Amino acid sequence: MYTPKHFNLLQDFTKAELEYLIDFSIHLKQLKANRIPHEYLKGQNIALIFDKTSSRTRSAYVVASHDLGAHSETLVKSDIQFGKKESVLDSARVFGSMFDGIMLRVSKQDIVDTFVEQAGVSIWNGMTDEWHPTQMIADFMTIKEHYGTFDHQHVVFCGDGSSNVAISLMVTCAILGIDMTTASPDCLRPNSKTLALIETLSSESGASITFNKDPNVAVKKATVVYTDVWASMGEEDKFKERIDELYKYQVNKELVSHIEGEYIFMHCLPAFHNTDTEVGNYVKEKYGIDEMEVTDDVFKSPNAKQFIQAENRLHSIKAIMASTNGHLFVPSV
Ligand code: CP
Repeated sequence: MYTPKHFNLLQDFTKAELEYLIDFSIHLKQLKANRIPHEYLKGQNIALIFDKTSSRTRSAYVVASHDLGAHSETLVKSDIQFGKKESVLDSARVFGSMFDGIMLRVSKQDIVDTFVEQAGVSIWNGMTDEWHPTQMIADFMTIKEHYGTFDHQHVVFCGDGSSNVAISLMVTCAILGIDMTTASPDCLRPNSKTLALIETLSSESGASITFNKDPNVAVKKATVVYTDVWASMGEEDKFKERIDELYKYQVNKELVSHIEGEYIFMHCLPAFHNTDTEVGNYVKEKYGIDEMEVTDDVFKSPNAKQFIQAENRLHSIKAIMASTNGHLFVPSV
């Protein structure tokens, strides 16, 4: 009997399984570069459901499906009954009866959880209010490609420590045994349930997962400096509040001068590092701020790897889809 495998929560996976996905992503990148076919999902039909905007995730799933020999259909909430005329539960059953795998980028984690329980096919979490798990495989693939190893890495996240990306980074570091410091104000930290999860995972792996209000101190041992937009998707109305809370956590030339060794800069994108965006223009007009979570002198420096990260979304999403739905071996030790 077919039992679907999902990629929903990072904590559903062991260290060995995450490492396998990262290494498999690197392998698939090489196959693509050498134009070697890898149609692990030949003949499958994949649904890509979005109730939020996306450039990287959407493009990566469309191209990954094609390269894996599958057909993808993008279903945007405004065009379908899901969440309006039809319940999440009924939608999960309907889509699951037609498609071989379903990716969801949705506003609430419990929507993805309902699909996992009810759809009967592989479900991939394309980002929710709580988690951004597929981003992590691309991010740690990027770190592995650059340094060749996770040994002696220290990830420092500067910004909103309660965001889906920050929490996903903490949980991934905790599973993989990588040290991480989050530079954020006290009011922007994970909730107690998430802190307990991180504590359990890090006590098993030996990772040190800490917080520091002072970004200059937090970055000292960094080998990776990571930041994200100051207001996550769906929190745009909090931008004003977030700027007050996070301005001192901006990643700029002065901040990175406190790093003692080699480092790379990472950002999951999109970035509001300049005023080319609607929000950026608004903030510039209102506050006279030209640059937000990262300044151009870091974003455009040789240390910056955000566009490699973006490309790696393609290879890592392929690895996730092929491993969960392509009947490949995934270690569980
Ligand atoms: N990093 C990321 O998820 O990008 P998109 O929102 O463009 O998909």
